[in-house]
Amino acid sequence: MKKALAMLLALMMVLSLAACGGDNPDASKAPEGTTSTAPADESKAPEQPDGDVANKDKPLVWFNRQPSNSSTGELDMTALNFNQDTYYVGFDANQGAELQGQMILDYITANIDTIDRNGDGVIGYVLAIGDIGHNDSIARTRGVRKALDTAIEENGAIKSDAVGINADGSASAVKDGKLTINGKEYTVRELASQEMKNSAGATWDAATAGNTIGTWVSTFGDQIDIVASNNDGMGMAMFNAWSKENKVPTFGYDANADAVAAIADGYGGTISQHADVQAYLTLRVLRNALDGVDIDTGIGTADDKGNVLSDDVFKYVESERSYYALNVAVTADNYNDFMDATKPYAPVANQLDLEKNPTKNVWLNIYNSADNFLSATYQPLLQNYDDLLNLNVEYIGGDGQTEANITNRLSNPDQYDAFAINMVKTDNAASYTALLNQ
Ligand code: BGC
Repeated sequence: MKKALAMLLALMMVLSLAACGGDNPDASKAPEGTTSTAPADESKAPEQPDGDVANKDKPLVWFNRQPSNSSTGELDMTALNFNQDTYYVGFDANQGAELQGQMILDYITANIDTIDRNGDGVIGYVLAIGDIGHNDSIARTRGVRKALDTAIEENGAIKSDAVGINADGSASAVKDGKLTINGKEYTVRELASQEMKNSAGATWDAATAGNTIGTWVSTFGDQIDIVASNNDGMGMAMFNAWSKENKVPTFGYDANADAVAAIADGYGGTISQHADVQAYLTLRVLRNALDGVDIDTGIGTADDKGNVLSDDVFKYVESERSYYALNVAVTADNYNDFMDATKPYAPVANQLDLEKNPTKNVWLNIYNSADNFLSATYQPLLQNYDDLLNLNVEYIGGDGQTEANITNRLSNPDQYDAFAINMVKTDNAASYTALLNQ
């Protein structure tokens, strides 16, 4: 049925092109079926991509990994300006990082009488780093160090390198911090930190973090008073392996459902990066560009269904072509409001009309199908929104290690109307744009 409909549509296209003298070679090709994982709804069989639009001119959104230099963090404006319908969707990494640091500091302040487990006068923490070349990871490492006064600045920026083991406080990437709480001074030390990369090269690796906490505990024992992590995937691995049983507060990032639920069992807290807003924005900017409407439609300006975001949940920075969701701390005080991590955000959960916003085909990849945040939170949200926005999305899951593992599966970009890309490395935008330029 779907095939017959598609062939009919193709035939109509050929006829209408012939009628107006068009000679686009692509238009005569029979459309190929997509391999979408989401079951296609017969009632909204996608139209075939408009053969007149070159792949290089199709809407493109980068998400989760902002095209940038992985050493300096400098934005890759060539990739961000690939065409007039190119954007990035992520979240405000610095605002979130400050919140994470503050959340840990607030916890220490509130529990100062009991936090120092061995009473040696040093509040010791260990830190799991996601990816030393990922701006979100760098920002979070900096945020924790800044709040706990262990940061060292170099050329105007806080150092974000891992220290490895720092038993005596002599590491060059951090210093021993001093916190004054209730008029008394305390020392804080980053006892250890490490990038959690597995032997195959996957970063933000939860299993590596789960193993590493064991090594750290055998070195430091009850010198460890706090466990901090660049994300919940690694944070929960450490919590489950050690800190839960030993009642050591552990802090992550992402507000994944399992982490939020673990707050009831002593997980210290997490940060919501408003994935429900990001997933919406990821698909909404494509929808708007495909419809040829103002890009702010259903974002800062209500669409005809009333979908709209208020400016306390996102911001748009025109010069960076980037939408950033704003973060919220999730702690014992409010975690009940965050239990359902994959529910669409109510102000933008209204279904669009098929007549006005007909079904379009989108190719989208997740850089690592094993990433907790992307697979347990972000993708389920995308799958909810694709229905609401009438987008037929093909989801591709990468291995987290090589760009080729993903780009190999974008062999026929002609089949799609728009693209949403999550790179393995933030430097590698050109591996994708090269395919669209062909
Ligand atoms: C998330 C991490 C995730 C990473 C993947 C970050 O924004 O917080 O949990 O592993 O993106 O790129």
